[in-house]
Amino acid sequence: MKKVIVMAFAGIAIFAACKTAKKPAETVKTEKAPDCNGTNFSYVADIKPIMEQHCTSCHGEGGADGLNFNNKSDIVKAANKGELLGTIKWHSGFPQMPPNGVQLDKASIDKIECWISNGMK
Ligand code: HEC
Repeated sequence: MKKVIVMAFAGIAIFAACKTAKKPAETVKTEKAPDCNGTNFSYVADIKPIMEQHCTSCHGEGGADGLNFNNKSDIVKAANKGELLGTIKWHSGFPQMPPNGVQLDKASIDKIECWISNGMK
C-alpha cells in the first residue's frame, strides 16, 4: 500500500514537472529603466516646464482628478502613488496622459523617471 502511495506521488510530481516545462516562455515586456546615474534634474529647471507644456492645461487650479500640477506637492503625491509614471508611460491600468493620443517624448519621460528616482528635488 505504501508503495502505491509513493508511486502516486511520484506520478503527480512528474506530471506537474511536465506541465511546468510546457508553459510558454514569459511574454511580459520588460521595460528598461533609464540610467539615472549622474543625472541631476531639478523640479524648476526640468519638470515644471514639462508639466506646464503638457499637463497644467487640465491639471491646474481645480484640475482634473483634483490634481494641480502647478504645485510640486501634487506632482510628488502622484509620483509616490505610482500614478505619475503609470500615466505618462501608458501602463495598463492607468489612464493615458496626456489623453490626446500623443505620448510625451522619451527624453521627457526619462527626465521625470530619473527625477523621481533621485528623490524629487
Ligand atoms: C486634456 C486634459 C488633460 C491633460 C492635458 C492631462 N490630463 Fe491627466 N487627467 C485628465 C483627466 C480628465 C483625468 C481623470 C482620470 C481619467 O481620465 O480617468 C486625469 C487623471 C490624471 C492622473 C490620475 C490618474 C489616476 O490613476 O487616477 C494623473 C497622475 C494624471 N492625469 C497625470 C497627467 C500628466 C502627468 C499629464 C501631462 C503629461 C496630464 N495628466 C495631462 C486630463 C488631462
